[in-house]
Parts: sequence; structure tokens; C-alpha cells
Amino acid sequence: MTVHFIGAGPGAPDLLTLRGRDLIAACPVCLYAGSLVPEGVLAHCPPGVQLLNTAPLSLDEIIHAIATAHAQGHDIARLHSGDLSVWSAMGEQLRRLRAAGIPYTVTPGVPSFAAAAAALGAELTLPGIAQSVVLTRTSGRASAMPDSESLAHFAATGAVLAIHLSVHVLARVVQELSPHPLYGPDCPVAVVWRASWPDERIVRATLSTIEAAIGEGMERTALILVGHTLGAEDFDTSRLYAGDYDRRYRPVGTHPRFPTSESVAP
Ligand SMILES: C[S@@+](CC[C@H](N)C(=O)[O-])C[C@H]1O[C@@H](n2cnc3c(N)ncnc32)[C@H](O)[C@@H]1O
Repeated sequence: MTVHFIGAGPGAPDLLTLRGRDLIAACPVCLYAGSLVPEGVLAHCPPGVQLLNTAPLSLDEIIHAIATAHAQGHDIARLHSGDLSVWSAMGEQLRRLRAAGIPYTVTPGVPSFAAAAAALGAELTLPGIAQSVVLTRTSGRASAMPDSESLAHFAATGAVLAIHLSVHVLARVVQELSPHPLYGPDCPVAVVWRASWPDERIVRATLSTIEAAIGEGMERTALILVGHTLGAEDFDTSRLYAGDYDRRYRPVGTHPRFPTSESVAP
């Protein structure tokens, strides 16, 4: 049988892909990372589902539970928050499943940085200000950061930084970024706590004011966004929709770059 790894999204039960929802509904066994996957997502499980919260388990125990369900002929839904491509611990599980010859599929989910940007109503990349978003984190007990991936290194780009797993070290983030010429104390910051959950909270400030603004109670499930596109109104309009911009889907002029039979001048 098959283990279906499914990105469970940022929290709202309806922020799942249709494929993810259907797989959850079809699997008689569901393993979920209870520290972040909310109960509402589990409501998509079928009646009589065998549920296992993996938050308190070791990797060996998780693989044992998967192998047992597999041996019993059950398909398994394996849920992790957000998308699986970042900080999901999926890689180490897939490696063990490959070694054991247990088949699996991977279904992406809505990542928390996208849910946070949606909560802010923000496009993170704005013409003339920033065209890159760095998904990063600070060093934690479970995973150390490679030296070359420090915030200071990323700060050299001026990109928008989406800093995960770090709200508890906000002071350190502020300390590292504030002196940087491309950010500075006035650089906009937004902290989005539990994006898409019913009790979602947003704090907008600057690097110099965010610590005072954030107050108490925004622990753990929060994303720190830092960059000059946050709240910006003074940015260039992209050429994409400019009336005179000649493009494949909207040929312009008598000699378009991508002529269609209708657009070629007789
Ligand atoms: C273990 S990582 C999981 C990341 C996840 N795989 C993703 O795609 O976003 C957990 C961190 O993601 C961020 N996060 C996850 N869900 C969030 C949410 N609903 N709102 C804000 N941040 C969230 C927080 O920074 C949290 O510390």
C-alpha cells in the first residue's frame, strides 16, 4: 500500500488542495504532526479512521507505525503543516521508506509564507523594490544553520526575508538586520501569528519598533516578514500589462515579436 505525504496547509481546513483532501478522505490510517496540524483538517478523515499524533514519537516509532499499517494493507495519509518542501522532516522519512521498499506519493500544500502574505494582502515582490523572497529560519536546537546562511548573508541581497521558527528570538533578528544598510531601523516588518487560523493576529511595525509592538502571546506559530515591499505604495508598475508592451499573448504594433496570423500586417 502507499503512504501519501500531504501538505496540510497553514491551518484553515479549507486551505488544502483538492487532491490532499481526497487522499485524506480515502485513507483509513492518518498520521499527523499534532503540534501544527489543526483538528479541523482531520475532519476530512473517513469515519473510523485510525489516527496517530506523531508529535510525541521518535522517527523510529513513526516508521514502525507506517510499516505496521503498510503490512496490514492500509493506505496512509501522512500530514505535515504548510508545504512539505520546507521544514517538514519529510526527507528523513522518505529515505527510510525507500530503504524499506514502501511506496509513497507527495502532495504539496499551501506554505505558511504564502498564507501570511495573503493575510497581509501583500505581494511580496514589487517591481523596483524587491524581486526575491528568502525562506529562512534562525538556528534552532533541532537544526543548526550552516554558517553561510546567516541572516547577515541574506541581508546582503536586500530581498524580502520570510523568517520561520524564530519569533522567540525576534530580538536577535532585529539586532542582526537593523545595522544592515539595505534594511535599517525603519525597514518594515510584519509578524503574522497563526495565519489563516480563526485567531490569526498581525502586527506591522519597523525593525526598531517591532519588539515593543508585538507584546505578549505571539509564540511559536508565527512568521516574521522583513522587507521594503511590505506596505509599499511607491513602486514601479510592471511592464507586463503596459499598453505598448509587445508580448506573446498580446501582440502589439505592426511587427510583433510573436506574430499570430491575425497580428501580422498585410
Ligand atoms: C516546522 S515549520 C513548518 C513550515 C511549513 N512546512 C510551511 O510550509 O510553512 C513551522 C514554522 O512555520 C511557520 N508557520 C507554520 N504555520 C504557520 C501559520 N499558520 N502562520 C504563521 N506561521 C506559520 C512558523 O514560523 C513556524 O514556526
